[in-house]
Amino acid sequence: MDVKFQWTQDMSVHNDVIDAQHKELFEKLSEVLQKIIADDYDNAVDGMVNFFEKYMNGHLVYEEAYLREMNYPHLEEHHQQHEVFVEKYNELKERLSEDDANIDGIVFDIENFMGSWLTSHILIEDQKYAKYLQQK
Ligand SMILES: [Fe+2]
Ligand SMILES: [Fe+2]
Repeated sequence: MDVKFQWTQDMSVHNDVIDAQHKELFEKLSEVLQKIIADDYDNAVDGMVNFFEKYMNGHLVYEEAYLREMNYPHLEEHHQQHEVFVEKYNELKERLSEDDANIDGIVFDIENFMGSWLTSHILIEDQKYAKYLQQK
């Protein structure tokens, strides 16, 4: 099974720092998934924590600060959507660290929820602010 999430040009928000963060998020999430698929669970758990604490959380904080600075009117709504991801991450992290973890179910959720969430969030929600800021 080969799973790879990737950044594409149509995801650009016309901000080099944020585009670079988005690319990195896809790379890191793909790495975690590969470890789980390779049955390397200990590293996968570390990878998930590392992915979130080092990259995802930093990105969400950075993006929200940027939107605040730009006076983006839908910041609160955007923040709520980030929260959905944070909650799902916390749930998955807990499930992954259980002794009798259902790895197949977790892989499914990482792929279908986290990967798809990230893809559609960047393509749809992040594009909303990108378009708004371009029109300003
Ligand atoms: Fe983003
Ligand atoms: Fe976002």
